[in-house]
Amino acid sequence: SINAVIFDLDGVIVSTDDCHYRAWKMMADEEGIEFNREINERLRGVSRMESLAIILVKSEKEYSSEEQVELATRKNNYYVDLIKELSPADILPGVMDILTELKARGIKIAIGSSSRNSPAILKNIGLGGYFDAEADGNHIQNSKPDPEVFLLAAERVGVSPVECLVVEDADAGVEAGLAGGMPVLGVGAASVNPTATLQADDLSKITVDQML
Ligand code: G6P
Ligand code: MG
Repeated sequence: SINAVIFDLDGVIVSTDDCHYRAWKMMADEEGIEFNREINERLRGVSRMESLAIILVKSEKEYSSEEQVELATRKNNYYVDLIKELSPADILPGVMDILTELKARGIKIAIGSSSRNSPAILKNIGLGGYFDAEADGNHIQNSKPDPEVFLLAAERVGVSPVECLVVEDADAGVEAGLAGGMPVLGVGAASVNPTATLQADDLSKITVDQML
């Protein structure tokens, strides 16, 4: 039985795609690197430095590791400014109903996100301190598809991985959940991932009964 649900943040609880896109785009334009929404799609669930590596495939210039850190930092500074505009209105459809019902039924809820900005985003959308546990990019060594962030979230809610359901919008996140021995509900971009245990367009299209 499922005793905890671990939610990815970006693309599951709140859509930050556009903020990531605009921030990477500003940096890429300044550097003269081709970057578009199709490339942005490949950054879903991928860590900041791994995202930069994907973007730099299109660069003619070779960047040293110090320069790469500067590019990622510059993008993050733009991103931090953009996410200041997020509010509870940016919470995705169905999310609050599902979270409220899980809480009412005594099912633990946790965040398992690759983002180091996860605490700021949760605060801005009014969900700071709402989850029983949070595991994010600040707490892990290995990004999705490694299961580390989900295993840490499971440990923090005190529920064994097989009793945790992961909710993910990224293929790398679906792979991570399964690698951790957890069933996975794929939503958004991952709603068509055939390896996901369950699939739904978004959280308004599935019930808690179907999830458990
Ligand atoms: C999430 C997003 C990715 C992002 C990653 C790291 O997984 O889906 O697109 O690259 O977080 O985000 P950060 O806020 O730490 O740069
Ligand atoms: Mg995501």
